[in-house]
Amino acid sequence: MITESRKLIRIVSDYLLAEDRIIDFNIYTKPPKSNKPILLIAANTNIADIKETLAKKSHGPLFITQESAKKFENFMEESLDSIIKNRNIPLDQKSSLVHTCAKNIIRDVFDDPRSGRHISRAKNITSNIIDLTLEDTQSIRHLLRLGSKDYYTFSHCVNVAVFGIGLWMMIRKGDETELHDFALGCILHDVGKSQIVDSILNKQGKLDYEEFEIIKKHPGQGHWLMAKHTSEITLDVIIHHHEKINGQGYPHGLKGDQISDNAKIATIADVYDALTTNRPYAGARLPISALTLMKEEMVGHFEQKRFEDFILFLGGRGA
Ligand SMILES: [Fe+2]
Ligand SMILES: [Fe+2]
Repeated sequence: MITESRKLIRIVSDYLLAEDRIIDFNIYTKPPKSNKPILLIAANTNIADIKETLAKKSHGPLFITQESAKKFENFMEESLDSIIKNRNIPLDQKSSLVHTCAKNIIRDVFDDPRSGRHISRAKNITSNIIDLTLEDTQSIRHLLRLGSKDYYTFSHCVNVAVFGIGLWMMIRKGDETELHDFALGCILHDVGKSQIVDSILNKQGKLDYEEFEIIKKHPGQGHWLMAKHTSEITLDVIIHHHEKINGQGYPHGLKGDQISDNAKIATIADVYDALTTNRPYAGARLPISALTLMKEEMVGHFEQKRFEDFILFLGGRGA
């Protein structure tokens, strides 16, 4: 009998099979033709001991209680390396799990941006996204589809990392350490917004002068928050993702090649994702409409060559 909560969350048994570990939450099932959940696997069981039962899938659908959701989230996050390598789990399921974990981690980073533990979780999930993309570039399509519905800050951060990784891998290739640092910069690019009040961040309608001045501080605040924890490459992406080729960006008003290639890529990914998702003050544009706006109404914002690369990337990856 379930006493923790009436509300149950369905889980995927394949995820559990990826690793031999002790679970710290109960798992329930519902027998055929019954709506009453029964306890199938008690907390403190080692998955290794029940692998055969789980693999047969004769147990019916699996559930956890809402109270156990956080424990399940942690379990999944710690199992991600094995799940990504597991060839029995379909790519769309892996992508969905990576996307969910990534959003949760970014939420935690925004809640407590000084936590070294959350930042190291952000580094791990960035590596997971890169691993998934290296395993199959189709995962980019899956990851972006999952994040395309609404403009939640956390989803946006994940999307910018996915676009950034995809474009970086297409044009830069080579240095994997730089790719990891760059991708971390993308996923953390807006972390400075954690210091801005919701009434400005989620304002419906246009920001006034003072409000916009506050928003403009977020790249610098992000740099300040992450300075002790991340590399120069990561910090460069965080602080320079609002610079423009024509020198009219912020916070430093850098021009042309004063802006690094990494920051140029992140800027394009950032603007495109913002335009193609729902925001508090504007609806989502279709890809072609976003690209047309970027080309015709944002002249001088982006480097032409990188913008063309991005269009090629979108065409090639079906993103
Ligand atoms: Fe930003
Ligand atoms: Fe952004």
